[in-house]
Amino acid sequence: MLVHIVADHPNKISDLRPLFGSRHVITSTLLYGKDRLPQDCDAMIAAADLRNAENIAALKTVSTAFKSARRKVFVVDQKARLDAAQAYALGATHVLFNPVNQPTLLAALGGPGKPPEPAGDADRVAREAALEGAVCLDSMFSRVATGQQVDAAEAKRAAAKIADAVGENGFTHWLETVRRHHEGTYQHCLLVTGTAAAFGLSLGLARADLERLSTAAMFHDVGKAKIPSAVLDKPGRLDDRERALIETHAAAGYDALKGAGGISPEILDAVRHHHEYLDGSGYPDRLSAADIADLVRVLTISDIFSALIEDRRYKPPMSRAQAFDILTGMQDKLEMPLVTAFKSVALNR
Ligand SMILES: [Fe+2]
Ligand SMILES: [Fe+2]
Repeated sequence: MLVHIVADHPNKISDLRPLFGSRHVITSTLLYGKDRLPQDCDAMIAAADLRNAENIAALKTVSTAFKSARRKVFVVDQKARLDAAQAYALGATHVLFNPVNQPTLLAALGGPGKPPEPAGDADRVAREAALEGAVCLDSMFSRVATGQQVDAAEAKRAAAKIADAVGENGFTHWLETVRRHHEGTYQHCLLVTGTAAAFGLSLGLARADLERLSTAAMFHDVGKAKIPSAVLDKPGRLDDRERALIETHAAAGYDALKGAGGISPEILDAVRHHHEYLDGSGYPDRLSAADIADLVRVLTISDIFSALIEDRRYKPPMSRAQAFDILTGMQDKLEMPLVTAFKSVALNR
């Protein structure tokens, strides 16, 4: 594989080069150097400070020049999570945080390639909505992690923009855009918001209900900001202690949001109860059918479906048909007439 590294400092190139081993042909240029970019490459690695506006402009040109590169890996500073959102806006397929190690870098190069980009206005609308959503999630998660209040108006705006993008271009397009540009918890939250919006639209919800549902989806996992990423992103099975820790996120999200102004009781209820099941086997309050609101039932279906189809580094995405089959098997837990109504969203392309 031909890999081209572009960096804003020579040290970044010399730090990265030894990590590739002998399987790849490596070329490199400095972001403001005189060397010409190669004609083409299979993968581009960008290592630059994305808080610098000149770097962003220069990387935009480089990223466009390597239009056909199947992988664009951006290496960013771990302390600046907003850099990740910026990297995705510049076309990153993977974002890695410093310090980068060899297995992570090679996994980014060797993992499944991303689907080709659709072109045109639809793509721009979806990318902008996804970027605004990711920036909003970034600020929301940082605020909750540090005990500050979230900006409810920002989340509502981002959710409405996502609902508009899904309404305009369809759910499949949203799915492709999010999978291509975002990873981890943000990918999950963006997918759940788009899925919930598509589901709400197919149910013919009134605008106010649709906004409530989409905003609840943006907020739903914000309690995960309190959980260490080593547990959240752990590949494979969780032990009992880790599972119990993850299960605190629903109540933690509710606790973090309840003090912020402008978040309706229905949305707070959905955040707290999106893991409750009709048969009483969910958490945190072990609610049963009569106590679970309609909005929550819709969000729960959207959440489970999104988690199954998302693209994680350690888990291949499940097909939409397989994911829908799993929902139909959750007879006692989910409202089956709603699952049936979800079929058109899940399977329709
Ligand atoms: Fe959750
Ligand atoms: Fe979730």
